[in-house]
Order: sequence, then structure tokens, then C-alpha cells
Amino acid sequence: MRAVVLVGGFGTRLRPLTLGCPKQLLPVVHSTMIERVVGRLGEIGVTEVVLSLGYQPDSFREAFPDGRCVGVELCYAQEPEPLDTAGAIAFAARAAGIDDTFLALNGDVLTDLDVGALWALHAERGARATIALTPVEDPSRYGVVVTDDDGRVRQFIEKPAPGTAPSNWINAGTYVLEPSVLDLVEPGRPSSIERDVFPRLASEGSLFAMGSEAYWIDAGTPEAYIAAQLDELDGRRSGAHVSGIHPGAFVAATAKVERSVVGEAASIAEGALVVDSIVMRGAVIGGCAVIRNSIVGWDARVGSNASVLDLSVIGPGESVDAALTLEGATVPPKEMWT
Ligand code: GDD
Ligand code: MG
Repeated sequence: MRAVVLVGGFGTRLRPLTLGCPKQLLPVVHSTMIERVVGRLGEIGVTEVVLSLGYQPDSFREAFPDGRCVGVELCYAQEPEPLDTAGAIAFAARAAGIDDTFLALNGDVLTDLDVGALWALHAERGARATIALTPVEDPSRYGVVVTDDDGRVRQFIEKPAPGTAPSNWINAGTYVLEPSVLDLVEPGRPSSIERDVFPRLASEGSLFAMGSEAYWIDAGTPEAYIAAQLDELDGRRSGAHVSGIHPGAFVAATAKVERSVVGEAASIAEGALVVDSIVMRGAVIGGCAVIRNSIVGWDARVGSNASVLDLSVIGPGESVDAALTLEGATVPPKEMWT
């Protein structure tokens, strides 16, 4: 089995973390998002992953200099300009010479979905494309899918206006595709699998879907990025219960860390409180500071008695002054993102 994994997006919703780092290279507990995704593919028998690169492609080559990621062989397909999801999948599949049934995945989805069952359903139905579906509370920020009882997709509506979605089942970002799907994508031009290709396949009746209640999260927003990691700490994913505090982190005796990730070489000073948060490698949290439901980027510093609250995101290497309170803020502020 070969898989194309899309990792070329700008990760805008995770800025400022993604200003200097592609979303899929951000840490997830003590590994990275892409290692989580590729590791799972390796477990189910995928032998080669084609990374569809766009934004900051060299970061991936530097992260995996031997061309392997958690034991799985990587092949890089770097698009000359952003080609959007279908354009990127087609570009990567053509570059890698894929001419048989293959998998395509969004690189920011962490899931325990049964890909083997998806593959089997695809073969059974003789589908041209088969997509996994997951139920969500608010479908408006996803691709919403309506199916018949046999799994044939009737409608695929990408990001419907809030309150208008005809179903709570959404595109989970994992697809089994026949190579003939590539014929629908004109080379060299941006094309969206969600807005162009899937609606066309649905209207010809060759798009199928499989619903699954397995663990699933799109880690592409600060809230979901935190939740994805806390879910691992809480043991909500299959596999081992993981510890949030890296063995190479320093937590002072009177500091309290509750339900949080503290990366390697990060340090939490006396009297500080870290709750439901991500403190990345090398970050320094000053004495009696409070970090709650927020993200402190790698090598950032939070001064003593400061409070970083309510989905604040401190960019890598940035500083928060002592005694300052931030609520739902970013450092640097949006106006200064370049
Ligand atoms: N190579 C490349 N080129 N990759 C891209 C491009 C591009 O032009 N645009 C986006 N990507 C990558 C992103 O890096 C990400 O891994 C994936 O494609 C999906 O893009 P997102 O920006 O995360 O999309 P989304 O979360 O808003 O919506 C998508 O995912 C939902 C499920 O998580 C859609 O597929 C929805 O239909 C779906 O429900
Ligand atoms: Mg996403």
C-alpha cells in the first residue's frame, strides 16, 4: 500500500507557531504530528509515504535526512506552487508513479480509524473513491457528507454555512482512490478534492463512504491541537497511556503541572501552575506564573507572575513580561506576523 500525505498547507490557524514551521512538524506530545500520522500508516502495512510538500518543504527534508520516518520510506513531491488538495494529490501521485489503488490523507488528522476496513469497502463496492466519515458536533468547518444506506455518497458539501449542514457526518480526511481519479485533475492548476473532485464523483455515483466512531481529531486549530495532546495523556486513543512531562524537563518542587505537556529541556519555576496546556521544548516558565489552556512555543519565556490563559499562543522564542496577563492572545500579535 502506498499513501500520499498532504503536508503543504500554510497552517494559518496555528500561527504564530507555523510562521517558521509547517503544521505537521509541530510536536504532538514528545514526537511530531507527521510521525504520528506516518507511524499509524506503517502499522497498517503502508510501505511508502509520498509527502506532498508545499509550504517550507526543506523543513521535512531536514527533519528526516535519511528519507525515513518512524521506519516508513518517504518520497518527496514538491509542488511548484500551491495546487490545493486535489492538485497536490495528483501532482504527488504522478511524481511517484502511482498507478494502482492508493491512500490519500490530510496530514493534520490524528485518528484510530480502521483503514483496512475502508480499503475493503472500496474494493467491495467497486468505488472510484471511498472516504472515511466521522461524526462531529459542528460540521460547518468540515466537508459534510450525505450517503445512501449502502454508503454511496449523495452529496459532498465543503464548509457549509453554520446551521445549514444536512448531516453531522464529515469527511475525515482519509481516502482510498483509484488512479483514474487523477484523470479529473488537470496538471499544473489548483484544484480542490473537496470542492471539485468529490462533488463530481458523487454526481456520477462512484464515490462511497464509511462512517466510523473511532478516535478522530483534526489538530489544525490551537484548541484542537491542545485537545489532541490532552486526549493522549487521558488515554483516549488506543495504545499506551503517555506521560506529558518529558524526562528531560525540569519542574520545580513547588510548581504544579496538571494535564499538560512539558517538552524536553523546558523548565517550570517554583510556584508556577501549568494546567491543560502545551509547554514546548526549551520554554521557560517563571516563578508563580500561570499557564492555562494555552500553548507556549519552543524556547519562549514567560516572566514570573505572568498569566497566559484561554487559548493564548506564545510563538517560539518570544517573551511574556513578568506579571502580564494574556487571555486568548498571541505573541507576537497578529499585526506583527510576517
Ligand atoms: N501539498 C499541499 N498543497 N497540501 C495542502 C494544500 C496545498 O495547496 N492545501 C492544504 N494542504 C494540506 C494541509 O497541510 C493539510 O494537511 C491538508 O491538506 C488539509 O488542509 P486543511 O487546511 O487542514 O483543511 P481543513 O482542515 O480546513 O479541511 C479539510 O480537512 C477536514 C477534516 O480534517 C477538508 O478535507 C475537509 O473536507 C475535512 O472535513
Ligand atoms: Mg485540517
